[in-house]
Formats: sequence, structure tokens, C-alpha cells
Amino acid sequence: MSKPLRKVVFPVAGLGTRFLPATKVVAKEMLPVLDKPLIQYAVDEAVDAGADTLIFVTNRYKHAIADYFDKAYELEAKLQEKGKAELLALVQGTLPRHVRAIFVTQPEALGLGHAVLCAKPVVGDEPFGVVLPDDLLWNGTGKGALRQMTELAEAQQAGVIAVEEVPHDETDKYGIVDATPVDERSASIRYMVEKPKPADAPSNLAVVGRYVLPGRIFHLLEQTTPGAGGEIQLTDAIEALLKEQGKVLAYRFEGIRFDCGNKAGLVRATMHMAMQDPKLAPTVRAFLDQL
Ligand code: G1P
Repeated sequence: MSKPLRKVVFPVAGLGTRFLPATKVVAKEMLPVLDKPLIQYAVDEAVDAGADTLIFVTNRYKHAIADYFDKAYELEAKLQEKGKAELLALVQGTLPRHVRAIFVTQPEALGLGHAVLCAKPVVGDEPFGVVLPDDLLWNGTGKGALRQMTELAEAQQAGVIAVEEVPHDETDKYGIVDATPVDERSASIRYMVEKPKPADAPSNLAVVGRYVLPGRIFHLLEQTTPGAGGEIQLTDAIEALLKEQGKVLAYRFEGIRFDCGNKAGLVRATMHMAMQDPKLAPTVRAFLDQL
């Protein structure tokens, strides 16, 4: 990848049915882990990786994400008037000044690959990141997963996909890779397949929601026909990229993943963040003991 990564795509058009009824009105990306919505963790990670253009692929009903990153005139004026500088900084800090947010609509829910393709007019022909906000990847004060991947993509001039081992009986929830280890964290992908049954899976190394890809992927996505679940799969386009370019890397990121696309994952993430917070940790620990 010759150019540094500047653009990151966030596919956020999903309905979030696992969190109904809350998601009748709250976009699932707005569900909070403590006081920050999931989308904020995803955006912070993209900005940490050097992105200055964030592209949200959303649907026509979901306005909350745009509202969240917009200026909140009345609230900001009130906080200013009352001298609440810390709160004002929190409200104004959702998006750093040098970063712009662009919203693109996915007219129909045709799959993750299709959602990413909707960002083509904004991304053009340059390397870009994809971040799925359901997967909260946390590395404390260390480098975020996307930054780790961007550095590898630049050093190796290749696409990079984050992976993690998952239980064998869960391969049908993920894109699964077959890869030859290069070093402790990276491996060269030989083959990848979307949501194989455990009996057909080439390994238990699963794609988690972070990708660094070349602009070429858009051309391949345009040619991708519906795959697993009848959807246009990003995994299938990456498999085509692999055939064409011969090199895409799988990367075991440094950090922990919380699958916030389900209730247990969201609870785990919340508990983890609470235990990291010196003000909250003693109360939460005492409560857990009591439970
Ligand atoms: C998507 C991808 C899949 C990946 C997963 C990670 O699936 O298609 O390859 O493993 O995200 O969270 P989804 O969870 O949207 O069905």
C-alpha cells in the first residue's frame, strides 16, 4: 500500500435485532459501554490509526450517528454559560477538528461487501480501513488494532485483516482463514471462506471486524455475486484479491476483543471498562462479590 491510510469506512446500516426492543429507537452503534457509545470507540481507533476522513455507511432511518458527531449548539451554549468546561470538552471531543465525517446511504441491506462498495465514490483508489463497531478491540493505552494493522500494511505493501482464534463450533459465525504463519502475529492467507460449517472450516482462525484494503477491492466487489446467506460478502472479494495479488496478511492484533454484537459481549466490555476505571472499580467489585 503506497499511500498512508486516511480513510476509514464504518458499515453501520444494520438493524441490531439482537438488542430489540432498545434498537427500535437506539442505533446499536449508540449502545454505551459505560459513558461512550460503541461508535466512539471505533472512531477513536480510526483516528489513532491516522484517519482524517470517516465514512459511515448508514441507512435512511438511522440519523443518530450523524447527530452524535454533529455540533450540539444548545447543549454547548448551556455548558459554556455554566462554566462546565470538562463536560463541554467531552461534548465537543466526539470528533477531532481535523477529522471529517461523511455519510453514505446503503439503499438495500445486501451484505457487508455491498455496504463497503457504497463507500467507493468517497474512497476512490487508495488504501482504506474498514471498522465494524460491533467488535470493540481494546489495547488499553497501547496502539489500537487498526494502527498496528496500518503499520504492517505499509511495511509489507499488502492488505491486512485482523483475526482471532474462535471455538471450533463457532466457525459458521465468521469469515475463516487458512494461513501460513510468517511471525508471531502475522500469517500469509492461503484461502478464506465466509461462515463455513465447523466440519468444512479450514481452521478456527476467524476474521474480526478490522480490515486494511487497497482501493482495488471495489472493482472486485462490483464483480462479487451473492455468497453465504445470499449476501454480497467482503470475504469473497478479499479471496478474489488474494488470487489476483497473491498476498493478503492475517494479523493477530495485540489487545482484547469484545463482541458487542451480542448481550454477553456488551456486558463483558462494560465490566472490563468499569474495572479499568479507578473510581468505579471498587463499587463494581463489591457488587459482584455480593451477587
Ligand atoms: C462479518 C464478516 C465476517 C467477520 C465478522 C466479524 O460478519 O462478514 O467475515 O468474521 O463480520 O465480526 P457479520 O458478523 O456481519 O455476520
